Amino acid sequence: MFNKTNRMKHYRNYSLLKHNTFGIEAVAGEYVDFSTELEVSEYLSKGFSGNSFVIGGGSNLLFVNDFDGTIFHSSIKDMEVVEESENDVLLRVGSGVNWDSLVAYTVDKGWGGLENLSAIPGEVGASAVQNVGAYGVEAGDLIEKVEAISLKDASKKVFSHDDCEFAYRHSVFKAKEKGCNLITFVTYRLKKFPSFKLEYGNLKDKVNELGGATLHNVRRAVCEIRDAKLPNPDKIGSAGSFFMNPVVVADVAEKLKKEYPTMPQYALSCGNVKLSAGWLIEQCGWKNKPHEHVGVYEFQALVVINRGGATGKDVIEFAQAVVDSVKDKFGVELRMEVNTI
Ligand code: EPU
Repeated sequence: MFNKTNRMKHYRNYSLLKHNTFGIEAVAGEYVDFSTELEVSEYLSKGFSGNSFVIGGGSNLLFVNDFDGTIFHSSIKDMEVVEESENDVLLRVGSGVNWDSLVAYTVDKGWGGLENLSAIPGEVGASAVQNVGAYGVEAGDLIEKVEAISLKDASKKVFSHDDCEFAYRHSVFKAKEKGCNLITFVTYRLKKFPSFKLEYGNLKDKVNELGGATLHNVRRAVCEIRDAKLPNPDKIGSAGSFFMNPVVVADVAEKLKKEYPTMPQYALSCGNVKLSAGWLIEQCGWKNKPHEHVGVYEFQALVVINRGGATGKDVIEFAQAVVDSVKDKFGVELRMEVNTI
């Protein structure tokens, strides 16, 4: 299904416009696109130093300035079953495989696990960095191991599931391993006899309308829900959820609930409570505020959109105004999910 592509590509003064779903113009000093593990380790073993950044599908990125350094991108598209048992399949996937093509492939094969993560823009490598999540499932739940090449000394590194330190929209690759590695392969543990997770929002009702729980029906239902709530990156520039849902201690949540009885709240197993950033932003009136270049999406206020011609700086200024208004009204601090460069 996925073919190996050509040799490594190397460009100077390279436009990143097509490499970020926000649709923001920025230029990279160098851009290196590799399609095999060998290519990248040979390149790095010549001794690479300097400013670098690894880009995936550019769906969680905001370029605030040009990038005076080297941007690496993986086009590794190999995919193979590396182990199979009565119940499980271990699928090793190149970091450059398009995320939704992978989900579609596993659903067609009848392997369960990724179906709730349908229609998320981006690539396989980023699924491990961001621990992408939707409808009660996070990619990290399925990740068995991550292979990478060190940017420092070109050595091969293997991270087990535990090494990855997955948490809500978080992994070791956003913390102490940040900027240290090029991810080459991610191995997912999938189920031959899927157990469905349909408790989030109206997912179960949608799946039932489509005829009941099958992998294809869950995928279709998730695609339909996302289509109705989230902008299509081919038509409207955005990076999906711009902010993370904030987590507060139970006392704070209780006080807020008394003052705002309709506020959505989700109790976490640790005793803290997750709030909905989209709801908080909507309550601050941002859906109705006219802005020339930047705004929030009319069906999901958590998504900041480029109305056309926005610069990275416009987006940052707008986002800061949103953060300030939520802090003033609710006393809650929003944190960005999007990575700024
Ligand atoms: N809500 C509003 N107004 C809004 C948006 C949401 O009132 O403008 C309310 C909804 O009515 C609902 C609650 O907020 O009661 C939660 O909304 P939703 O189910 O849309 O989920 P979310 O918490 O806003 C998260 C993820 C999404 C993911 C959905 C579904 C984060 C930061 N975002 O959004 O992820 O698709 O859950 O699982 O955790 C992404 O990361 O790009 C992304 C879209």
